[in-house]
Amino acid sequence: MAEQRVEPVHIDSYPQQRTRGSLLEGYRYTSREFFEKEWEGMWTKVWLLLGREAELPNPGDWQMEPVGVEEILMVRQNDGGVKAFYNVCQHRGNPLVEGDKGTVKRFVCKYHSWAFMPDGELNFAPDRDDFPEGNPCDNVRLQELRCETFAGFIWVNMDPKAMPLKQYLGPIWDEWERREIHKWTRTMANTMWLPCNWKVVLDNFNESYHVPTVHMGATTETNRKQIRGHINTYFKETKFDLSNEGHNRMVMQGGYGAGATDKDGNLQEPLASELRYWELDPADFNGRPNDTRVALQQAKRRLGPQRGFSHYANVPDEQLTDAFHYTLFPNFAVSLWSDGFHFLRARPHPDDPQQCLFDNWWYSSPASIEKGIERNPTLDLSGNEATHKVLEYGKDSIGPAIEDDVRVFVTQQRGFRSRGFKGVYLAKQEERIRRYHELIDDYIEERRP
Ligand code: FES
Ligand SMILES: [Fe+2]
Repeated sequence: MAEQRVEPVHIDSYPQQRTRGSLLEGYRYTSREFFEKEWEGMWTKVWLLLGREAELPNPGDWQMEPVGVEEILMVRQNDGGVKAFYNVCQHRGNPLVEGDKGTVKRFVCKYHSWAFMPDGELNFAPDRDDFPEGNPCDNVRLQELRCETFAGFIWVNMDPKAMPLKQYLGPIWDEWERREIHKWTRTMANTMWLPCNWKVVLDNFNESYHVPTVHMGATTETNRKQIRGHINTYFKETKFDLSNEGHNRMVMQGGYGAGATDKDGNLQEPLASELRYWELDPADFNGRPNDTRVALQQAKRRLGPQRGFSHYANVPDEQLTDAFHYTLFPNFAVSLWSDGFHFLRARPHPDDPQQCLFDNWWYSSPASIEKGIERNPTLDLSGNEATHKVLEYGKDSIGPAIEDDVRVFVTQQRGFRSRGFKGVYLAKQEERIRRYHELIDDYIEERRP
């Protein structure tokens, strides 16, 4: 297959953002009043990544996902499109479906048998001549919300006047499009209710300052420049960007290529195996792990398409090796690798600001599963969509590494309740947190640009 060159990612291209230095106090994570303002001002106005097209292969297939008090029903249409509705019968408000997925010819309400078609039309109501305001089938439909698809995901917005998804996503759209994420398979889906506010989760994924302490056992004595795991998250060697739209990006150059070597300079796993798969000899890079980056880019570019990694032909070099960690406003964080999509999402509880629904999922490229280069033993590499597991906090693990984050989510939430906490004191490398909170305030105060 002919090599196809594309323009490299210009990782300087996000415009500079200014933050206002707002004081971020504990009530943002605990107060019911703030929680309600956030719901009205922000959650009901933003695009939310909520469903997956692969869950709905055929007309009449549906997926239902909660967000706060709402239950959103996403339904495959006869014409191949997807529509989203509030899961609520328009007779007297009973929810139409229970559970998280299924398939129907009609949605039949269990209270008085009103039956809605997959496109939202009311098709049947018993005793329809008995309604003084007229036959309900002529006057009533399911309440629909804005719904678009991108990267194989279904995105919804409760605001009928919302801007199109492409505009909302800003630079994310182009950066994701060529990766063929719509073809990727879910290889892990662990979900858990956590006793913390949803922003505790997003704040954590908006900084890598915690990584040495939480994930690498660093202490006050540790030289932070020297601490390297398989991925380099040292702030002076990563790239942070804030987009106009409120999303952000952290690029960890080299991804695994930045990994540690043993004391003799030998490259370690998983980098060594990755090199071998791409016909490179780890011994050639003894003591020089950073040099694997360009070598891998060239090898993947050369061999990838013929080995089934079809997206390699179309992505820039950086996307063949580097880890792009994104946070999409308001509630979605993802580490995006050449063949893996680490999906981290937090949703608010219906009425308790001190709980959230947390998803720790993975998607993997079909070629990485088929060729066995995905070696993470916690993933389901059968090639089928991984079963969704709803786990229990305190009893089950949400997954390796992320369970370390979860431990601090829960303790931090306790701290936010204290009158002794006077507000955050942020490092520059945590600026994404401040920007995020300020954008929430912009939504609440209706001054979002
Ligand atoms: S509430 Fe649904 S049919 Fe009456
Ligand atoms: Fe972490």
